[in-house]
Amino acid sequence: MSLVDVVLSRRSIRRYEKREIPKDVLDKILEAGRQAPSAANRQPYHFIVITDYEIKKKLSNGMFNRFIQDSAITIVGCANTHDILTGKWAVVDTSISLQNMVIAAWALGIGSCWIGDFKEDDIKQLLKIPDKRKIVALVSFGYPAEQSHQRKKKAIEELVSYNKF
Ligand SMILES: Cc1cc2nc3c(=O)[nH]c(=O)nc-3n(C[C@H](O)[C@H](O)[C@H](O)COP(=O)(O)O)c2cc1C
Repeated sequence: MSLVDVVLSRRSIRRYEKREIPKDVLDKILEAGRQAPSAANRQPYHFIVITDYEIKKKLSNGMFNRFIQDSAITIVGCANTHDILTGKWAVVDTSISLQNMVIAAWALGIGSCWIGDFKEDDIKQLLKIPDKRKIVALVSFGYPAEQSHQRKKKAIEELVSYNKF
């Protein structure tokens, strides 16, 4: 698949095979995140890779995140919004890095799903995340056990205009 085809074929995957992601594959996914662009190259983020089943179970306590417990790993993306130079971009930077991981994972046959359904304070306490870090999102990863259909997207004309809004 070309990179564009990888991007175009990606779908959120919420059902996973009971199968671990090999270390070299996980390292590649994390490296894709590490190589992401960030404002002034400050890389104001930290990623916690959750492999432990008991922790995954504790994270799966919302209405729309039950599938975390079945994921091979779930990554918690933390932004340093207090970065003295580029704090205001930290959430954007963290998101770009996470999405790089999502795309790399898909190219490697691994599905994922962004998760905004989490209680920040509870996770901060559970994972000992410093107060000043902001949890941007969680992303679950695993080998797909479903064929997710393409979600309806808005027409390009609604999303894009040329030279004025
Ligand atoms: C910031 C963000 C938060 C999301 N939160 C959740 C979530 O909590 N639970 C969930 O099942 N899906 C979540 N999603 C996945 C979206 O529902 C999904 O991307 C959207 O329906 C489009 O489907 P697609 O990713 O297959 O194109 C989230 C996606 C993003 C980008």
